[in-house]
Amino acid sequence: MLRIRITHADRIGRLPPYIFAEIEQLKQQKKKEEVDLIPLGIGDPDLSTPELILNELIEQVKIPENQNYPTSMGEEDFRTAVARWYKVRFNVNLSVESEVSNLIGGKEGVANIARAFINPGDIVLCPNPGYPVYENGATKLCDGIPYIMPLKEENGFLPDLEAIDSTILKKAKMMYLNYPNNPTGAVAPLEFLKHAADLAEDHDFFIVHDNPYSEFTFDDYIAPTILQVDPNHVEINSASKMFCMTGFRCGWIAGNAEIIDGLRKVKSQIDSGCPIFIQKAVIKGLEEYKSEKKPEIVEKNIKIYEQRRDVLIKGLNEMGWETELPKATFYVWTKIPKNERDSMEFTKKLINVGVVITPGIGFGEHGEGYVRFALTQPLERIKDALERIKKVI
Ligand SMILES: Cc1ncc(COP(=O)(O)O)c(C=O)c1O
Repeated sequence: MLRIRITHADRIGRLPPYIFAEIEQLKQQKKKEEVDLIPLGIGDPDLSTPELILNELIEQVKIPENQNYPTSMGEEDFRTAVARWYKVRFNVNLSVESEVSNLIGGKEGVANIARAFINPGDIVLCPNPGYPVYENGATKLCDGIPYIMPLKEENGFLPDLEAIDSTILKKAKMMYLNYPNNPTGAVAPLEFLKHAADLAEDHDFFIVHDNPYSEFTFDDYIAPTILQVDPNHVEINSASKMFCMTGFRCGWIAGNAEIIDGLRKVKSQIDSGCPIFIQKAVIKGLEEYKSEKKPEIVEKNIKIYEQRRDVLIKGLNEMGWETELPKATFYVWTKIPKNERDSMEFTKKLINVGVVITPGIGFGEHGEGYVRFALTQPLERIKDALERIKKVI
């Protein structure tokens, strides 16, 4: 038999080891032992996509022209719906032709934008703990160099922009920001976004504001867009969390036309876009917005998550945690108990009793000492998880 020596590209070697393999193995073992697992690890909404959107999808998929290739930049009516959404939701004006483009989910845009702008050795400013794609799928797979901006609790999980060395800022090409934030649940005031935008202007880099939790907000908090403070940057969002449509893979990018043009050039060479009938279904959801207020189809689900958040945090705090209620996202980011060695060990301890969470180290080295609970299980299961946690700590 012919034997071929297969070698990965060097950039694959720069990716961090897959730390979740150990967790997966333990989960499999627990499943074999017939332990009832409560999955609070993955950020995937358990609630269903609104009926209104599903009904539209069923109608739209039957139309023959909607079964053809889409364009990777998105259908005109989809881009119009996104531009209209930015107007009613944030009072931001966008050109349908040049300042909005479709994405096959936000993740695709977060990763592919680096292909358009990062040359080998370019610096990309990445929050840590953070969505791992910023450092890995985007920066390292484009041979760029991530510069870590630690998100510390004492700074409200905002990066300390003053602490970034001027030589780094000079070399930086792009900065990723993400508020409301995964994994910390933190939110950023408009002044912070303005400060970051001013810094970017002074040093000639642009910001990719990744905003998939913009609608996942509680207690009357309304999340802003970076485009409200400065139209020179771009924002990525998607239907995934907003309309519980993670599996449909439909997102968008909005803002600076030159940046979007770069991304369109990349995408036109490597993908054919999100299916037309899915774009049409998402339009239906976006059209429900009449103002900055969340429409009923979104608010209904947020109320469910809000109740879960309150129950989980109350339960944890009764056990001695001192966790504050996050204003946004469906994550609860909390320190591991003082007597625990690290986030991985604590996570394994909880998996042993069937409570699956994510160790903070999975979001980068500055996530160590924390764990993330995703509120993606019904209330009764969350209460059950709390009972089990009580027994092991
Ligand atoms: C911060 C952040 N960005 C982007 C994404 C990707 O979302 P999607 O590709 O489903 O739009 C996620 C998903 O969990 C996320 O947490």
